[in-house]
Amino acid sequence: MVLSTGINRIRTAVFISGTGSNLKSLVKFSKTKLSPISIEFIVSNNSKAKGLNYAKKFKIKKKVLNFKNKKLSENNLLSILKKNNIEMICLAGFMKILSKNFIKKFKGKILNIHPSLLPKYKGLNTHQRVLNNKEKYSGCTVHFVNARLDSGKIILQKKVKISKKDTEISLAKKILVQEHKLYPKAILKVFNL
Ligand code: GRF
Repeated sequence: MVLSTGINRIRTAVFISGTGSNLKSLVKFSKTKLSPISIEFIVSNNSKAKGLNYAKKFKIKKKVLNFKNKKLSENNLLSILKKNNIEMICLAGFMKILSKNFIKKFKGKILNIHPSLLPKYKGLNTHQRVLNNKEKYSGCTVHFVNARLDSGKIILQKKVKISKKDTEISLAKKILVQEHKLYPKAILKVFNL
């Protein structure tokens, strides 16, 4: 696909494990005039991931790999991505940790979204930990992926105010709305657009 500016769009794969609401927002973004990416592939480690329905809806190729044998799954995946000329990867709620070897193959070309203001609250159960610590703010972060969990260079963040009434569910919802805006913005920033 060619951008209206004449630049080729970067062929991108999105990795998911669940609902895929970030995937949906990325697909919508990728169809806008300004988008530097086109989404050509969806990968999931979970065959029951709701987000896989977007493959059919948007006519995007998909692959499910269980990652039980990580090395085998990753090698299989690398060859599929190569065959499909995938140049960039967006992790969007992908619950598996990619190996150093895999990350090296896409060095500087894997992005992730995390529902906290990194470097605070890396890892799982972010919202509950934030609430337990009585934080006033949380938010979301888009960052490059390196070999250490949730530790790569930060691209963009959005702060969200926590209200006294917030629960794990309400906070997750509030942050997710911001995630859907932040990921496309971060991609534009990566490409200096
Ligand atoms: C998001 O909150 C993302 O930041 C986190 O997992 C959630 C995935 O949601 N890593 P969805 O599958 O994109 O709806």
